[in-house]
Amino acid sequence: MATAEVKSNPNEAWGSRIGLILAMAGNAVGLGNFLRFPGQAAANGGGSFMIPYFIAFILLGIPLMWIEWAIGRNGGRYRKGHLPGMFAAIWKHPAAKYLGAIGLLIPLVVLSYYTVLMSWTLAWTWFSITGDYWGLTTQEQMSAYLTSYQVIGDGSSHDFWVPFLFFFLSLGSTIWILSRGIESGIEKLAKIGMPILFLFAVILAVRVMFLGSGENGVSPVAGLQFIYQPDFSRMDDPKVWLAAAGQIFFTLSVGMGTLQTYASYLSKKDDIALSGIATASTNETAEVVLGGSIAIPAAVAFFGVAGAMQVAQSGSFNLGFVSMPLVFQSMPFGQVFGAMWFGLLFFAGITSSVAMATPIVAFYREEFGYKRETVSWVVGLVALCFGLLSIFWFEYGFLWEWDYWAGTFGLAVVAFIEVVLFMWVFKPENAWHSIHQGADIRIPSIYKFIMTYVTPLYLGIILVWWGATEALPFLRLEGGKGAGGQIPEGGEIYVHASRLLLLAILAFFLVMIRIAWKRNGYDDRVGFREVEDTPLGVAPGKEMV
Ligand code: ALA
Repeated sequence: MATAEVKSNPNEAWGSRIGLILAMAGNAVGLGNFLRFPGQAAANGGGSFMIPYFIAFILLGIPLMWIEWAIGRNGGRYRKGHLPGMFAAIWKHPAAKYLGAIGLLIPLVVLSYYTVLMSWTLAWTWFSITGDYWGLTTQEQMSAYLTSYQVIGDGSSHDFWVPFLFFFLSLGSTIWILSRGIESGIEKLAKIGMPILFLFAVILAVRVMFLGSGENGVSPVAGLQFIYQPDFSRMDDPKVWLAAAGQIFFTLSVGMGTLQTYASYLSKKDDIALSGIATASTNETAEVVLGGSIAIPAAVAFFGVAGAMQVAQSGSFNLGFVSMPLVFQSMPFGQVFGAMWFGLLFFAGITSSVAMATPIVAFYREEFGYKRETVSWVVGLVALCFGLLSIFWFEYGFLWEWDYWAGTFGLAVVAFIEVVLFMWVFKPENAWHSIHQGADIRIPSIYKFIMTYVTPLYLGIILVWWGATEALPFLRLEGGKGAGGQIPEGGEIYVHASRLLLLAILAFFLVMIRIAWKRNGYDDRVGFREVEDTPLGVAPGKEMV
């Protein structure tokens, strides 16, 4: 087999600390913050969701953030920007690299359907500017408008080609930015996109608070009370706990393999303790303060608390795509606010989607020596094919199957593997030292205990519970339901296809890992050669400022 030369140093670097934090926050802040969070919070009772949510943030989210940054930076010492290499760097065992295969599968799969969801936001930005949905003033009409877009061939509101056009634009822009590299692509995007996103979010949150009481006589403030007033009545409902943990993983991008790749471009002189918590806090501000102050209060003012819960339960993104357009139509300059809302979602999405392709790019560059541009466009092509399946087979729940197995259950699996490898195989002392290398702060030592015992136990319980109450019934299609809900007549075949495809992609990466290890002559028991003093990413003569 002809082998490409492995480049000694890809010379990727973060240009500045603020750029790094914005890019990391951009990686985390996404559709999850502004669409998924309000949907999950409203569907799970508002105040009753927030208690398990904050507990999951403190016991799972924050520790895993530090663990992923440390695993990533440690991998970077050996020029490994992908999970198979990072796992092999901390566990000198032949199985370690194969455990990392799931860290290539997940970002690729999530990228493919996430760019489809992003394309809806881009389309709705356009439809707001042009006033395309103006005049559709009931939930039923707006839902039909959304369905006509999602279900290909139902030409009642949109031409056949429209969803494809917006998908090509969303994926194309993601891949174009990715192909420009870390500093001139991803970091630049974050420096422009993140301030715009926050500005739009603040304007919208303030505007929503000035909405008058809707037909129900309920003010938007009731929406805030609905989320922020603690409600202990559902504390014994495991579904709420699982939904809260799932939201924490998705929103922080924990278990996705992307934070680790970003962190691999850091040196041992860089701080990760403070930067990690800064990223997590930025994400939570965007989610709880801003994400919680737009869609839910607006929907509550319009439909009342019960009505808003019902909208959220009727479909994952209905608060964003169905109820918000109704709100915009009722306000002066509604088209501008509509464009701002969906534009904000698009910016939030693209700073996350570029991150999702980076683990695969790192894998092929570092192990096979391919050029970044080449790998980026090939990844784009693969994501295009998978994304088209999500579009064509949307009505059979194909997209939601992938979102469940890769974007929800899979994240917890990766997180569990990581915490066990880092805290138990690598050992707590080494883990603690690794996190504090170059750190500007000391993490309270209670977190060493939490990371060693509480986080793995919590994750283990979640996995078993999820497995028993959701994953197994979904797998067996009990009651004719898949992960995307009731499967329509004749739809089982597409659900099976979506799952088989996931297994096929996993098998593909397992084989690629084996080939990579063979061609580079790695010895699992010895480990990799350290790239001493020229930490991955920091180009010669360049220091992080
Ligand atoms: N963390 C990203 C989001 O929230 C994936 O959308």
